[in-house]
Amino acid sequence: MSDLQRTHTCGQLRKADAGSEVTLSGWVDTRRDHGGVIFIDLRDRYGKTQVVFNPEYNSEAHQQASSLRSEYVIAVKGKVAERPEGMVNPDLDTGEIELFVDELEILNTCETTPFEITADTDVSTELRLKYRFLDLRRPIMQKYLAFRHKICQVARQYFDENNFIEVETPFLTKSTPEGARDYLVPSRINRGQFYALPQSPQLFKQILMVSGLDRYFQIVKCFRDEDLRAQRQPEFTQLDLEMSFVREDDIITIVEGLMVDIFNKIMGKEISAPFPRLSYHDAMKLYGCDSPDLRFGMTIEDITDIAKKTEFKVFQKVAESGGQVRGINATGCAILSRKEIDELTTFVNQFGAKGLAWFKVDDGGLTSQISKFFTAEAQSEIKERFNAVPGDLLLFVADKESVVSQSLSQLRLNIGKTNGLINEEEFNFSWVVDFPLLELNEDLNRYDSLHHPFTSPHQDDLQILEERPLDVRARAYDIVLNGVELGGGSIRIHRPDIQKRIFKLLKIDEITAQKRFGFLLEALKYGAPPHGGIALGLDRMVTILLGLDDIREVIAFPKTQKATCLMVDAPSDVDEKQLKELGLSLRKPD
Ligand code: AMO
Ligand code: AMP
Repeated sequence: MSDLQRTHTCGQLRKADAGSEVTLSGWVDTRRDHGGVIFIDLRDRYGKTQVVFNPEYNSEAHQQASSLRSEYVIAVKGKVAERPEGMVNPDLDTGEIELFVDELEILNTCETTPFEITADTDVSTELRLKYRFLDLRRPIMQKYLAFRHKICQVARQYFDENNFIEVETPFLTKSTPEGARDYLVPSRINRGQFYALPQSPQLFKQILMVSGLDRYFQIVKCFRDEDLRAQRQPEFTQLDLEMSFVREDDIITIVEGLMVDIFNKIMGKEISAPFPRLSYHDAMKLYGCDSPDLRFGMTIEDITDIAKKTEFKVFQKVAESGGQVRGINATGCAILSRKEIDELTTFVNQFGAKGLAWFKVDDGGLTSQISKFFTAEAQSEIKERFNAVPGDLLLFVADKESVVSQSLSQLRLNIGKTNGLINEEEFNFSWVVDFPLLELNEDLNRYDSLHHPFTSPHQDDLQILEERPLDVRARAYDIVLNGVELGGGSIRIHRPDIQKRIFKLLKIDEITAQKRFGFLLEALKYGAPPHGGIALGLDRMVTILLGLDDIREVIAFPKTQKATCLMVDAPSDVDEKQLKELGLSLRKPD
């Protein structure tokens, strides 16, 4: 039981407090010995305060202080004093005062930490994750967590003001198809059977609309067993919502209102809504991806028609076999060396491109090792298509559509970044709409939903659903921030007959549909209202708003790329007894 109870936090004291007697508690941040006087920066979540052990002021406390080391937990009682002139620290909120200690209590000692808590040194991610309790003691990490908390508060208040009800949905449930593998939980009571952790609350929120809840939201964990790339975690948080009797615009307006509110209340910035909308088709055509970064131009142009007429075999062959030749204008990049262009070629190789054709633009025409295959007319047509001027560098990929799009989309971002075309201060929102409902799964010779199977087709496209499924548009929308997909949603199918037609197209037979989603099909029969919704990735949103790259920075206890938690050491072995209770036995790894 400690005797000293704190009266103030370490971020609280000001000049006006000089003369008063206070008690502070916290961690020893730094310690300096100045000619017999010991100065300690005492740190807690709220800030730092300079604490002084002066032998002339109190020799007993000073003597005790000599044993203090970094990260010891202490309580100190003493008198607040204004700092002498010239000693004020403008970088600290408490920089005008210091505390002269009368009484010191050491609440706990600390072993030498594997990394310094406040120093900005490069510490490996592994070490940070293993010692997350120390990593989270760093003021910057506490700032991130507090920021995330604020976003949740503003969101909760916003949804409440707009008549939404927060409802919790189960974690021990059945598979929800969102395109990833499920995390399975074996049942002890029902041996041999498994729960799936939800990939999203999708089906439950639809059920809540059938129940007449009208407006639902939840800040909720989702679980997806997928290959981890940047911006992905096996468990992550969605800001999830669903509304009844709505069209696309209603959902879009609600989300825009939320973003305006967040910027207003947390970022202290005005952003203007509505956000621009772009069709999926245009996004793919101009930017090569469905989450385009609109903070800069450098759009993709198609020269397949010109390519057909040239003598350059690579272009000719691709153009004639139904592929595409498209490119971008890296403005002002004609100064790049051959080596630098070779590096760009290697860069696009990783996305499947077999090469990168290039031209430097000069006063005459186009120069390159391949320009001899292009007539003067073709060269000027190409120049015109890109509005190219001398000094520009034109870069082309010829291949099937998916390879061309992905390569050029990544190349555009790469050049945009290295050439400083992106204003890092900007927050650029957009909506991508009119997605196709389905995509062809060539490996399995069937169609897959681009979003999920509960997405409504456009009313106008219903009559071509079976004849030309790939032309059917979905009533789906994605919100994009700075080139990252922040969220996605759709108007749902609310009639069982249409839901059944979609399952048929997806080659989900009736028995399977009943087994997997019988409860939804059943619910749709009992007066399901038209409804729709969206889910925003909270971790991604917080990461981007803080100007960070890695979503692990804003998750208190994230997983590694291999889906492990280094701090608790999960996943881990379980007892034979537990396996037995679950009716499971493990096969030796092959
Ligand atoms: P979707 O699958 O598009 O939609 O997910 C919505 C948003 O969640 C975020 N997200 C992730 N964030 C971190 N790690 C992950 N592994 C991860 N996966 C997704 C993204 C994404 O845009 N039920 C539908 C929503 C709806 O239709 O209402 C759904 O889950 O930011
Ligand atoms: P090659 O004839 O293979 O020496 O290639 C001549 C130039 O065309 C090189 O700059 C290659 O990078 C480029 N190239 C080769 N294949 C492609 C392709 N599929 N798309 C774009 N450029 C290519």
